Amino acid sequence: MKGYIFDLDGVIVDTAKYHYLGWKRLADELGLRFTAQDNELLKGVSRIRSFEIILELNGREMPAEEIEKYCTVKNEYYVQYIRRITPDEILPGVRGFIREIRREGIRTALGSASKNARTILDRLGLESYFDAVIDGTMVSKAKPDPEVFLKGAEALGLDPGDCIVFEDAVAGIVAAHNGGMKAVGVGNAEVRECCDFFIPSFSGLTAAVIEKKLGL
Ligand code: BG6
Ligand code: MG
Repeated sequence: MKGYIFDLDGVIVDTAKYHYLGWKRLADELGLRFTAQDNELLKGVSRIRSFEIILELNGREMPAEEIEKYCTVKNEYYVQYIRRITPDEILPGVRGFIREIRREGIRTALGSASKNARTILDRLGLESYFDAVIDGTMVSKAKPDPEVFLKGAEALGLDPGDCIVFEDAVAGIVAAHNGGMKAVGVGNAEVRECCDFFIPSFSGLTAAVIEKKLGL
């Protein structure tokens, strides 16, 4: 029995553009510089850490309570965007791939840093595609800590070594490896070097191809 654990943002749907718009609006209000290129640094990174990075890029410091307050403001902006997400935004090949592997008996989990993961899954109509969902409300340690994926394996009733992680962020690939799991890099060329096998997208992909490439 095997389990496939999927990151959400950047693997199932491209929410980075909405995170960018939310952070950009907040940054503009606070007079902070923040570009689309800076946004690349925030992929896979927790909400709080994202804002700390924006502050660091600007050479600014802030007390923890203020950081938390502004993260809440950014999230309110972000939620306005994701409320309008539709199933059309599911990335190419994802739905067919998950449907097919489940038909083959592979168990599936979501392992996301986002506290909004369930809202997004619901908007995409993908809730029934996962046997377990571990989101940012259920973990205390951010990727590259393996907590989110280890909880995913546990929820599937599987050993971590029997699970494969799909990730678009370096922190996520490292988290999978830290948890003793193989990691498939998805889409983002930055993970090419550190993942066990890279796929540009899920289009035309099968479990047989993945497992052959991973030597399983
Ligand atoms: C990750 C995203 O999945 O979730 C990050 O890649 C984001 O960019 C993080 O910061 C936390 O998301 P949220 O929705 O809880 O702010
Ligand atoms: Mg991601």
